[in-house]
Amino acid sequence: MTTHLPGSDRPADKVGGHWLLARAGKKVLRPGGRETTDWLLDQADVAGRTVVEFAPGLGVTARAVLARGPGRYLGVDSDPAASARLDDLLAPPHRAVTADASATGLDDACADMVLSEAMLTMQGDRTKREIMAEAARLLRPGGTYAVHEMALTPDDLPDVVATDIRATLAKTIRVNARPLTIAEWVTLAEDTGFEVTATYVTDMGLLDPRRLVADEGVFGVARIAFNVARQPDVRRRVLAMRRVFTEHRAHLRGVGLILTKR
Ligand SMILES: C[S@@+](CC[C@H](N)C(=O)[O-])C[C@H]1O[C@@H](n2cnc3c(N)ncnc32)[C@H](O)[C@@H]1O
Repeated sequence: MTTHLPGSDRPADKVGGHWLLARAGKKVLRPGGRETTDWLLDQADVAGRTVVEFAPGLGVTARAVLARGPGRYLGVDSDPAASARLDDLLAPPHRAVTADASATGLDDACADMVLSEAMLTMQGDRTKREIMAEAARLLRPGGTYAVHEMALTPDDLPDVVATDIRATLAKTIRVNARPLTIAEWVTLAEDTGFEVTATYVTDMGLLDPRRLVADEGVFGVARIAFNVARQPDVRRRVLAMRRVFTEHRAHLRGVGLILTKR
């Protein structure tokens, strides 16, 4: 049984924001919350199908997929600790794979559905494209790629504002945070072999009280509040992240996209 929390070997002032929130007890680490995940899963027929999830993190979506009775679930995370924890959740034929999502080593056309949440945003432009191309390679024709990411709004946001928000997010979250506008996400999807068949847009409410309760439950929020209160270095960073999300809330969204492989 592996209980090692991803990122727990890094100091609180350096670790990526997602693993910092995990250290505080947060389980849902995506910009549009469980509501966007539920919407994505409701758009696709999961029962009996082969589902590949890129970057399952703490396995919240893995559990939701398994509850829908897939034929096979494969979770691909590049973080060995995340992958090992996921493996503890899974029994054959389901399994965890430790690999980069841009080169999974899985077979061509092995999947009916690929799912990824809160992981493309943290990649540079070339890697975003490589990961989406890998999703296209894994899917059979007509298969579904369900994507959940952070978006900038409006689509005509001036470059200078977008660049400033990306830089502030990256500095605060300590990951390469590069959200795109919804129009840019759509163009990237079309360029990598997909048609956009449905879109869901919601607030980027990762640290909003209402979303925290919806995602983590009342006891979960109490646990997070307790953990944050007793770890000053974690508290400083969580508050800094919340300040940045609040400051830029008018320009940040969570977006869900259902992409169909052409
Ligand atoms: C912000 S967390 C999101 C976790 C989960 N999808 C969620 O929404 O709660 C980012 C996850 O992406 C994984 N990750 C980042 N880059 C990756 C890559 N290139 N290939 C596979 N996994 C990656 C990290 O290890 C981590 O588990």
